[in-house]
Amino acid sequence: MFETIRWEGDRDGHAVLIDQTVLPDRYEEIDIETPAAMIDAIRRLSVRGAPAIGVAAAYGVCLATRGIESKDGVEGALREAFPMIRDARPTAVNLHHMVDRMKAAYEAHAGDEPLAIRDRLLDEARGIQSEDHALCVKIGESGAGLIKDGARVLTHCNAGALATAGQGTALSVFYAAKNAGRKFEVFADETRPLLQGSRLTSWELQRAEIPVTVICDNAAGHFFGKGEIDLVVTGADRVAANGDAANKIGTYSVACLAHAHGVPFYIAAPSTTFDFEVPNGDSIPIEERAPEEVWQIAANEPPAEGIRFRNPAFDVTPAKLIAGWITEKGILQPPFDQIR
Ligand code: MRU
Repeated sequence: MFETIRWEGDRDGHAVLIDQTVLPDRYEEIDIETPAAMIDAIRRLSVRGAPAIGVAAAYGVCLATRGIESKDGVEGALREAFPMIRDARPTAVNLHHMVDRMKAAYEAHAGDEPLAIRDRLLDEARGIQSEDHALCVKIGESGAGLIKDGARVLTHCNAGALATAGQGTALSVFYAAKNAGRKFEVFADETRPLLQGSRLTSWELQRAEIPVTVICDNAAGHFFGKGEIDLVVTGADRVAANGDAANKIGTYSVACLAHAHGVPFYIAAPSTTFDFEVPNGDSIPIEERAPEEVWQIAANEPPAEGIRFRNPAFDVTPAKLIAGWITEKGILQPPFDQIR
């Protein structure tokens, strides 16, 4: 499988990302050498998906100290970088968790020599990446049994290898089912406005030789109505303590459709995506993105003055619509004691 993000070199090295904004037309990698460039890449969605932006944020912290050899210099650069990187995007909690973890690693070693601190931070970031890889494998193992032979499974957005440092969350379940010999097909919602489903999920699944059919988001009801969807599995950007789950805009509509048609709807997410500090979905901040993302697909010119656009990037699916939360510790139910 491809590497969505990697670090090249030692503490003075840099990060390399697959630029997801140009897939599937072009496969291009970009070198990221400063925290500002990493923040920009996260905001532009060159790197995206909750676990992947957690890893990107950790490497962003390493980039903040690149080339710095004095203790004061390292401290100053980190103090500036932590809040800036943490604020890159608001909804996916992995980003916040991983910046906090890098900060804790720094604080535990703040008394060391500056170069030793920087080595320690790079170790921590690499550890975050390899842990995410392992979490993805376990999520696949937890969920594979849900996919029966002949199943038609709907997913929304991209919760695959491109969204993590491993083989994905929702898509890891599909990869594990395929490895277990199951024959099934996936319906991928196109996922307006930025088309993560039609651009990224279809690209990934086709490479993995899993049959995939892309549908417009507004065609989902049609396929549920015809009895052509047996199961829904999506990822999440943040799961609240009661199980409410924020994921890509449109996920809530899919969950309502699944509920109306008696189709089980599952969330696949590692423990790093759970936020036990927020009691329910009402407290999850929802990113609002630029209006251009809404109108640019249909028009090259800005719309007439006075027309307003709203572009929430995520919505919250209430826990009551979720059949189970597929995690590295199995398929769980609130209050999630196994991962608290
Ligand atoms: O805006 P994006 O593309 O970062 O949104 C990504 C999603 O909503 C994913 O479903 C979620 O992060 C889970 S990724 C394993």
